[in-house]
Amino acid sequence: MKKQKVVYSSLLLLLVVLIFGRCTKTETVYETITETITDTLRLDPVLVAEGKQTFRYDAFGDEAFWSDILHIDQAILGEGNGGYGPGVSPATALSVGLKVDAEALPAEVVDAINTGQIGLEDPATTLELLKLDAVVGVKGNFDSEGMMTSVGITCALCHSTVDDSFSDGIGKRLDGWPNRDLNVGAIISLSDNVEFIAGLLHVEETTTRTVLQGWGPGKFNAGLLIDGKALRPDGSVAANLIPAAYGMQGVHLATYTGWGDMTYWNAFVANLEMHGQGNFFDARLNDAGQFPIAAENNFGNVTNSPDLITPKLPGLQAYQLSLLAPAPPAGSFDEIAAERGRALFEGVAQCSSCHIPPIFTDAGQNLHSAQEIGIDDFEASRSPTGLYRTTPLRGLFARTKGGFYHDGRFSTLDDVVEHYDNHFGLQLSPQDKSGLVEYLKSI
Ligand code: HEC
Ligand code: HEC
Repeated sequence: MKKQKVVYSSLLLLLVVLIFGRCTKTETVYETITETITDTLRLDPVLVAEGKQTFRYDAFGDEAFWSDILHIDQAILGEGNGGYGPGVSPATALSVGLKVDAEALPAEVVDAINTGQIGLEDPATTLELLKLDAVVGVKGNFDSEGMMTSVGITCALCHSTVDDSFSDGIGKRLDGWPNRDLNVGAIISLSDNVEFIAGLLHVEETTTRTVLQGWGPGKFNAGLLIDGKALRPDGSVAANLIPAAYGMQGVHLATYTGWGDMTYWNAFVANLEMHGQGNFFDARLNDAGQFPIAAENNFGNVTNSPDLITPKLPGLQAYQLSLLAPAPPAGSFDEIAAERGRALFEGVAQCSSCHIPPIFTDAGQNLHSAQEIGIDDFEASRSPTGLYRTTPLRGLFARTKGGFYHDGRFSTLDDVVEHYDNHFGLQLSPQDKSGLVEYLKSI
């Protein structure tokens, strides 16, 4: 009798241990993985440092495009300094979303800005900032007399911003954060020679300018010079939000439509978007039906000697992998509601069937059809995959400006959740929806 009691209570104890052990195990498993991502990557610090330098300051010889063809250097200089037009003052630069790295400014420059001795209205000040490598993503080259001879752009132009710690648009660099203020179209429009782009597209120069001006802040049409598609089927200007370059650890395909992995895309961008001098190969671009501009110009088979891009790819990859998604600031979301949202995300709302924690995209082929996610297939059909890539959601809070989904069609997270609720027929209560939104803000 006594023995039986002992057996029963031991069994009960075992059961309790098993049940609780299980619960705590599933609850902590994601946190443990997230914490160890950096450790397990064991990135080579030398390679990471090299990549950081490349990401921030390397234009890969793209001055040949931005200066020799588009003359952006002369637009910055302005008539007063040997270029054309009014020139680009720091105030103008900030107004099109360019950012200034406060840490690159010597104390006397900071003082002079504060006392008004350095005018933010004077293009000459922009030249001084460029000399200091302080305009994020814009690389100025100067001759021995201190005259600016050309400018190029770097990855940081679109994929870094600043924390505004000095003033609006001036602060510490935040690499990997998309610059959702940056008006790329307005910057290219500074050019007195968009004929080159118009020629590639076989359209009039005025049409090209209208399109560039239609992109708006935080957006860019990366496919334009590949397939020539400037407009969506409804006639509106096509452009995608600049995505984050952080939180890419464990993510298979990159870009909204999964063109390739991150390092494939790095090579694509450096050669075909920035117009750096490198080598790039992708036979898919020879398909004249889908990619008429690329096929006509042999963009699927770019060769340059010397190759200023390929040797930088390992460092760039390492640096991007070192860019962990930022953690949401304390108090920026409701923790209790977020916990409720997490249960829904991983449960009845089935979000985690695609956005699998902790990478928040699918493990494996992370692509889905337009119908699956309930939107049109215009952008998907522009990619060789014909599909949409499940966006990795880490650090979502740091890229809410401009909206969500590739083209920012949903302006708020509430709109995104509403869309899924309708599309998947989830029948979420208002409380469920707000929980999901708070959880998304917490990732
Ligand atoms: C002119 C702005 C611009 C510049 C410069 C730029 N990018 Fe991008 N980047 C974009 C846009 C826009 C996309 C989204 C493309 C798409 O899917 O349509 C993108 C996508 C990416 C992605 C995919 C992110 C994801 O969520 O999968 C990576 C990685 C990336 N860029 C890295 C780089 C690197 C590295 C450089 C420098 C070699 C660079 N980019 C230069 C605008 C830019
Ligand atoms: C069938 C796969 C799938 C499911 C299920 C799914 N998503 Fe998505 N999600 C995607 C894809 C693909 C995109 C990219 C859409 C685009 O950019 O046009 C995306 C984009 C998003 C975005 C926008 C991210 C950004 O930066 O623009 C959010 C937020 C999001 N999903 C949240 C959710 C939530 C919440 C759920 C559950 C209610 C969910 N998803 C269910 C595939 C899925």
